[in-house]
Amino acid sequence: MSANKKLLVLPGDGIGPEVMHETLRVVDWMDRTSRARFDVVQDLVGGASIEARGMPISPATVTRAKEADAVLFGSVGGPQWDKLGFDARPELSILTLRKELGLFANLRPAIVLDPLVDASTLKADVIRGLDLMIVRESTGGIYFGEPRGVETLPDGTKRGINTEVYTTPEIERVARVAFELARKRQSKLCSVEKANVMESGLLWRETVAALGAAEYPDVALSHMYADNCAMQLVRNPRQFDVIVTGNLFGDILSDLASMLTGSLGMLPSATLGAPDASGRRHALYEPIHGSAPDIAGMGLANPLAQMLSFAMLLRYSFDMHEDAQLIEQACTNVLASGLRTQDVMAPGCAKVGTSVMGEAVLRELDKLAS
Ligand code: IPM
Ligand code: MG
Repeated sequence: MSANKKLLVLPGDGIGPEVMHETLRVVDWMDRTSRARFDVVQDLVGGASIEARGMPISPATVTRAKEADAVLFGSVGGPQWDKLGFDARPELSILTLRKELGLFANLRPAIVLDPLVDASTLKADVIRGLDLMIVRESTGGIYFGEPRGVETLPDGTKRGINTEVYTTPEIERVARVAFELARKRQSKLCSVEKANVMESGLLWRETVAALGAAEYPDVALSHMYADNCAMQLVRNPRQFDVIVTGNLFGDILSDLASMLTGSLGMLPSATLGAPDASGRRHALYEPIHGSAPDIAGMGLANPLAQMLSFAMLLRYSFDMHEDAQLIEQACTNVLASGLRTQDVMAPGCAKVGTSVMGEAVLRELDKLAS
């Protein structure tokens, strides 16, 4: 019998623990139905870790993340920690995990499920059937570039500095992930930067173009400036299949893309490292939504993005495609049955809270599996 799969579960702050609680019931379900055995270790991260340990993520937690087969992350942050410096904020925990585990490829799907086509603020005709994937570079760019900081000038005014930096290997490895994904989809890749004003953007464009010509001639590659991409995403999002872009543009465009679908509460993400010789790679899975402090603890949060993050985990870390699909199907069916959390509420549907939604997904899983 194969060894148990090691999961590190980091619920974090705000609605994180609530939606993670429902997701762990799905993990249990996998266990109970003998689909896979998981050893689940839970730990603190973000504001919860700041309160208990005085730091957003402890070195021991980082070590546990490195030892795990996969990390399931909730969300971090909240107004009570907004005044802390960048070296102490809850957000540093996710940035540290990305950096320490070498998680450079952040996969952010934006999929419009049929039952939710009216949840979008865009016209149904524009977004029906949308299925795009943003591959965001996540260990480089302006998030980590040096020099950075705030300095005081001789006249007493201040200067804030961040630096956009990309090397060819950094660009190539994330572009490779995007090309490979495109191959498994519609074989269309759009690379996004600001090559019209930024040297690093020009290098990005040239590097992706050269890699495409040399290794992926079968993938239709296009290039787009980030501002135009934002406009095109709203104008006609279905023109895209896979988008690859740097850390900052990816942060912005993936929020935009997620809202095309009508609810941040629906979208999962995966962040992958490079595979080692045995094909094993570090990987972290988290919903795209944040910690939503305004509704934390009220039992109102949509647990589906966290559950779908677990489905992505099964798919990308363990090649368990059928089980991933089962969970995705269960979530879709529950929505189609008319149950909705407040964020995706629609006329004629029944408004439910986090645990009723979780319960419904479990019932649906039982049904699908029987
Ligand atoms: C995201 C978030 C993070 C980011 C924050 C929490 C540091 O916005 O994952 O998109 O900017 O990368
Ligand atoms: Mg973001």
